[in-house]
Amino acid sequence: MRLDEVKIGGMGASRRRVEDNRFIRGKGNYVDDIVLPGMLHMEILRSPLAHARIKSIDTSAAWDMPGVRLVLTGEMMAARNLAWMPTLSYDTAAVLATDKVRFQGQEVCAVIADDPYIAKDACGKIIVEYEVLPPIVNPVQAAAPDAIQIRDDKAGQVGNKVFDWEIGDKARTDKAFADADVVSKIELHYPRTHPSPMETCGSLADYDRATGKLTVYMTSQAPHIVRAAVAMVAELPEQNIRIVTPDIGGGFGNKVPIYPGYVIAILASILTEKPVKWIEDKTGNLTSTGFGRDVYLKGEMAMRKDGKILGVRMNTISDHGAFFADAQPSKFKIGLMHSAFAAYDIPTAHMFATGYYTNKAPGGVAYRCSFRVTEAMFFQERMVQAAADDLGMDQAEFRRINFVKDEQHPHRTAFGFLTDSGQYEKCLDIGLEAIGYKNFAAEKAEAAKRGRLLGIGISTMTEPLGAGNSREYDILGIKMFDSAELRIHMSGKALLRTGSRGQGTGHETTWAQIVAHELGIPADDILVEEGDTDTAPFGMGTYASRSTPVAGAAIAMVARKVRAKARKLAAHLLEVSEEDIEWELGRFYVRGNQERGVTIQECAMAAYSNMPDGMEPGLENVAYYDPPNLTWPFACYIAKVEIDPETGVWDVLQFVAVDDCGVRINPMIVEGQIMGGLTEAYAMANMQYQTYDEEGNIIGGNYMDFLLPTAWETPGFELYEVVTPCPHHPIGAKGVGECATVGGPAAFVNAVMDALKDKGVRNIDMPLMPNRVYEALTTGKDVYGMPPVRSGN
Ligand code: CDP
Repeated sequence: MRLDEVKIGGMGASRRRVEDNRFIRGKGNYVDDIVLPGMLHMEILRSPLAHARIKSIDTSAAWDMPGVRLVLTGEMMAARNLAWMPTLSYDTAAVLATDKVRFQGQEVCAVIADDPYIAKDACGKIIVEYEVLPPIVNPVQAAAPDAIQIRDDKAGQVGNKVFDWEIGDKARTDKAFADADVVSKIELHYPRTHPSPMETCGSLADYDRATGKLTVYMTSQAPHIVRAAVAMVAELPEQNIRIVTPDIGGGFGNKVPIYPGYVIAILASILTEKPVKWIEDKTGNLTSTGFGRDVYLKGEMAMRKDGKILGVRMNTISDHGAFFADAQPSKFKIGLMHSAFAAYDIPTAHMFATGYYTNKAPGGVAYRCSFRVTEAMFFQERMVQAAADDLGMDQAEFRRINFVKDEQHPHRTAFGFLTDSGQYEKCLDIGLEAIGYKNFAAEKAEAAKRGRLLGIGISTMTEPLGAGNSREYDILGIKMFDSAELRIHMSGKALLRTGSRGQGTGHETTWAQIVAHELGIPADDILVEEGDTDTAPFGMGTYASRSTPVAGAAIAMVARKVRAKARKLAAHLLEVSEEDIEWELGRFYVRGNQERGVTIQECAMAAYSNMPDGMEPGLENVAYYDPPNLTWPFACYIAKVEIDPETGVWDVLQFVAVDDCGVRINPMIVEGQIMGGLTEAYAMANMQYQTYDEEGNIIGGNYMDFLLPTAWETPGFELYEVVTPCPHHPIGAKGVGECATVGGPAAFVNAVMDALKDKGVRNIDMPLMPNRVYEALTTGKDVYGMPPVRSGN
């Protein structure tokens, strides 16, 4: 009898998440759950000032406190060549400040003590004398000719500019604008926000002088990269470094960079010869670890009267904080910002990007996105809506006529990417039908009678997921690929290890499903392990929704290698030649005689007990996968909102999401990913931001100011599915983890702006809090940037 793939938990099965067995019982194993004998605790003293020269540091009172074992300063780190460390963007970042502090919350000293409370109290005893310097809190201030230089530590650095970067065809784009009937313009700020995972960052470093072995348990989305970095920076032999990432309580990009706390804890363990644990508090996480976004976007679109887009210009200014530490492993200076407009057939485009240092926390991490694609897609969809309005065209129709058509794939975008598959119009049609687009005018008129303003916002986008390929993507020179290792035990049960690291995303469930699909071994018989560099094959980690596109592909490939050997075993068992063997899920049989066959489990047993002469025993293999291209999922998000003009409060009446992420491994997990992403998108559009006052004090550094949406505020989401298999992925899957965070915000903002279309308002920058909507309504003017220190136009 043929195996039923869904029943064995293969591809397409909405298999329950196996990791939830421990999570819902409170049996998760997070870094702070790990306790080692003799363990010490570390606390970090952070700068209260945004920009100041350090005149002196007096740590004597801290040393005198009972229970204090070590107090570390920048000078002590410098003596070991560890005061500065390299960032993932080829810049340097301070570990503990030596010369100046460059943002509020920067690490200045560390205390290691018998318990965390003593360490915290001892931090309070350290006296740091500062000479206050003028802070710079946005790129306009940073670019001023007389601006104080933030990075005076860098030889050759002039002013505060991090980079200028240009891409596209300027001359051709200028010509497109000269030939245009209509030119539409828009100017936006994507505010700084924070991934704010439930678990903060932390580590437990354990150096054993007797064996020379350093084990670090830590919250890292990329443990192998950390091992490589520790080997390079600390000059420890790589075989003696073991990085273990246990359960992660949410990453969202926040746990990709290497933070000072990790480095200090390692040195502290080497110096004290004891395990040293550092667990960041919530404020430390919100104020000093990788923020997301903070980009000023200006653009123009050239069009013919009939709505055809002729060209696009983009100008971006990004605020990188004090150190250029973006987790951005590509040769493209500003992430993948030039992935904008990939869904549209646009003949030419040009982008000019500039980045600046400011006295803010470093980061620009890919908060649930592929580097800067969130800003790119937000700009794209706000621009598209503004352009449709300027043309007086229906916003859905404008998108439809400019979409890349299905049969145009593979399609080279104006900025040079190659999109390979998609059914954009189909997704849009499903979305419009579900939201009741045809009846919207009547609905809007009816609401107007009640004094309410209704709007519909559409966001359609294809985004690049799955960094590598190795030609264009690398981290500190290490090429981007991923890996899987599969070991079939003699009973036919299996152990699968990969170079990726789940962080609540269900890898332990879905990776087994891929093996079940390829080999017919029930998913419940497969144990998935990730996150231990001593056992997992080398991988580049999990971010940018790269796990399914890259590690997922490696899993399919390793299973196929195992199947190829199992075929030889089957031929031996069935006493026929390999060419006469056919495969069906979970079983080989003799061509022409389907009854005569052996299961994959019987082949596994033979690999240990009855292999042919000369065959190497065992049934296992490893695969490294370098993807030929990124994967390009498509999404159509549509929000219908109602505004109360007397308060500026807006409610989401309906939200429709149509996602095409290729073949879905586990539909239930995919839906969970989309709902989670949309919730974050709603937060960004509606309530969440970080800003700084004139003195560089962070606003949004605690959960009273930085809001997280609860189930109470979050609207319901209606989900729809379209499947266009990825042509180059072995199982046709595309990434999905970040689609909704990337594409979602524009749907909400476009909906509010659609409702305000007749009020003379063209843009309100996120978050669209009621007071900002009310301000726009009552003044008839755009609301730009974030107070108290607005910058830009
Ligand atoms: O890299 P990350 O795990 O964050 O993102 P992803 O590769 O998009 O996968 C997120 C989760 O959705 C994983 O558990 C995937 O296996 C699952 N997924 C799926 O079931 N089908 C897809 N086509 C894509 C992802």
